[in-house]
Amino acid sequence: MNISNRYPSLLGKTVLITGGASGIGANLVEAFCRQQARVSFIDIRDAAAEKLVRSLSQIENCTAPVFYHCNLLNIPLLQETIEKVRKTSGPVSVLINNAANDTRHDFRTVTVDYWDERLAVNLRHHFFAAQAVYPHMQHLGGGSIINLGSMSWYATQGGMPGYTSSKAAIEGLTRGLARDMGGDNIRVNTLVPGWVMTERQLAMLANDKSAATILDNQCLKKSVMPEDISAMALFLASDDSRLCTAQHFIVDGGWI
Ligand SMILES: NC(=O)c1ccc[n+]([C@@H]2O[C@H](COP(=O)([O-])OP(=O)(O)OC[C@H]3O[C@@H](n4cnc5c(N)ncnc54)[C@H](O)[C@@H]3O)[C@@H](O)[C@H]2O)c1
Repeated sequence: MNISNRYPSLLGKTVLITGGASGIGANLVEAFCRQQARVSFIDIRDAAAEKLVRSLSQIENCTAPVFYHCNLLNIPLLQETIEKVRKTSGPVSVLINNAANDTRHDFRTVTVDYWDERLAVNLRHHFFAAQAVYPHMQHLGGGSIINLGSMSWYATQGGMPGYTSSKAAIEGLTRGLARDMGGDNIRVNTLVPGWVMTERQLAMLANDKSAATILDNQCLKKSVMPEDISAMALFLASDDSRLCTAQHFIVDGGWI
């Protein structure tokens, strides 16, 4: 699927995407670069990130993104990185909190440290990134924060309680921050993907009997692709959604 929409309001805007080196994040980076926004992204996968920067640099009418290596478990480093983004590309107008880790874990064996680590990789950095870009958006007179949620907990998916708890909490975070920041014309929404066919998910599904049930569960019998998530993200980042805040927007082919 190619995204055909143009959003003039995104032209030249500073956009920051976490976890942009692979999966949905890489598609988000490309989609915003194709809108000629000034895109920065954070990740720990250097080789994948550099490959993405190189490939986008060669596309006509597409801006080249700037990559920052930063482990999002390290909040002081995240805060420093966001300051570097401001100095290099200007105040952040759009923040997409995308990075996460859905490694499966059995609730019987979860330790306190592992629980804390699951919440740190799936929830904590969302808050601190939003806190760090707040003065940027205030200075600009507005902004859009998009938090990636998940349909997994709506669908009562087991096998990863640290992840599903974080993803449920992201919707609470969204609604609370939307109230706190709304007076500054900053919008905060959750984008809830269905089961998206990224390389990682395809690799996991290769050995999983639930692969066959995905399309059975969806009303629409087409796989949800990263582009479908980017299409919604572009809309939520643009001025076309100027009165949308404190909501969750589901792109799952009609599963939940
Ligand atoms: N793919 C799906 O089916 C699906 C379904 C529901 C929700 N989501 C959500 O969409 C978002 C993207 O999912 P995805 O499938 O592309 O994930 P992914 O695991 O394929 O990619 C996540 C990216 O985040 C980066 N990342 C992870 N931990 C990091 C850390 N500590 N510091 C810096 N970067 C880090 C990874 O290196 C990777 O590039 C996530 O929030 C995920 O929960 C995905």
